[in-house]
Amino acid sequence: MQFQFAEPFRIKMVENVKKTTKEERIGYLKAAQYNAFRLKAEECYIDCITDSGTSAMSSAQWSALMLGDESYAGCKSFYKLEASAQEVFGMPYVQPTHQGRAADFIMAQIYAKKDKYAIGNMHFDTFRGNAEVMGAIPLDYVIDEGLDASSPAMPFKGDINVPKLEKLIQDKGADMVSVVIITVTCNNNGGQPVSMKNIKAVSAVCQKYKIPLVIDSARMAENAYFIKTREEGYADKSIKEITREMFSYCETATMSSKKDGLVNIGGLFVTRNKDIYLQANQMAIVHEGFITYGGLAGRDLEALAVGLQEGVDFNYLDYRVKQVAYLGDRLRERGIPIIEPTGGHGVYVDGQRFFPHIPQHEFPSQRLVVALYEEAGIRAVELGACAFGSKDKVTGEPIWPELETMRIAVSRRVYTNRHLDCIVEALDYIYQRRDSYKGMKLVYEGPITSLRHFTAGFELL
Ligand code: F0G
Repeated sequence: MQFQFAEPFRIKMVENVKKTTKEERIGYLKAAQYNAFRLKAEECYIDCITDSGTSAMSSAQWSALMLGDESYAGCKSFYKLEASAQEVFGMPYVQPTHQGRAADFIMAQIYAKKDKYAIGNMHFDTFRGNAEVMGAIPLDYVIDEGLDASSPAMPFKGDINVPKLEKLIQDKGADMVSVVIITVTCNNNGGQPVSMKNIKAVSAVCQKYKIPLVIDSARMAENAYFIKTREEGYADKSIKEITREMFSYCETATMSSKKDGLVNIGGLFVTRNKDIYLQANQMAIVHEGFITYGGLAGRDLEALAVGLQEGVDFNYLDYRVKQVAYLGDRLRERGIPIIEPTGGHGVYVDGQRFFPHIPQHEFPSQRLVVALYEEAGIRAVELGACAFGSKDKVTGEPIWPELETMRIAVSRRVYTNRHLDCIVEALDYIYQRRDSYKGMKLVYEGPITSLRHFTAGFELL
């Protein structure tokens, strides 16, 4: 296959995108109060705000849609999805949900406990929000290198700091930690993978202290690809063998299927524990829909049954991860500071090293998001002072996060490398002129600080 390095698909249908002028984009930005979430999608030439729900489905998935069984209870489509998920996760009980955060909600209801710790590498916002509503204390225990956007490349920057985890358990008592959650790959610090060795070690600690282990598996196939290609002993294993081994160490997995499930909507709550499954069923009935459809149409279940299998195909994953690395390589050649190595689903530009003269309280990464849109109509997302900033509960003083980045999320099977070249050219242009940029002022944030990046309003300084 030496000469077959291009995309493992050909394109049968295209969706036109609109080109805009810089003057138009300046107007759109003003109207959106400089918040990329408030731009209209059609105002974006290349949309890298997320990799979630934005995949292109295959012809096999589109044709499966027509087979959707829309029966309320026991539809055929559910059993297809159940079998597909059992094969990938190696676990027996499968509860569909309408998307990942619904599975997070059910998981938090079961595993997060008031005034007890929920430890993760880095919790995704929706679990964190759910845990906080429950009165639980979510803590991020990723290894130190994972919290430093300028640390040298390492193969598994998503790993949990196991000694730190064990110390907390010993200091506070095992009954003070209600759950440990590993997010694969770790979205908040660059889509960085977690090694099998680390999953195994965390699982051993959890077993020793009888603490349940959950895997947030939105990007589990990309994580498995990194284990196969970076970790000793896995080169000859299939992606499915690796995913099954990953999940053999946990009790339950949640999944936003909008990522590695290659669908536009859907989620999963998968477990090996029958009691937990029965509890999840009850919550699904109240919040999602009957057990066998969980808030999805039969056709969505069909598309996901197929998408899960396509998502663990090695040739697809090889193309996918290498496309993201292509973007990172081109940016590195131009001297643009990024989290190294590139992760599975995007490239994270280090906003603080890009604009060293803009202090964190003036939102350097958000300024970069605005500059990239203004110059090229390319939409990325800030994961820094605005998204991860918080406030001291007592004094109200702002707390600034360690990571200050702009994520360029790459949708699956959607953009060509030519699109990625546009991103490189535009960022290079901005980087050449970086000294001319000033920061931003936050002029509106909603009532919930952890959700403010969706609705915030800014002014240019
Ligand atoms: N877990 C992880 C690791 C995620 O990245 C996401 C979503 C969710 C759970 C929630 O899933 O959106 O289906 O409800 N991440 C998106 C992103 C939104 O842009 O990173 P959902």
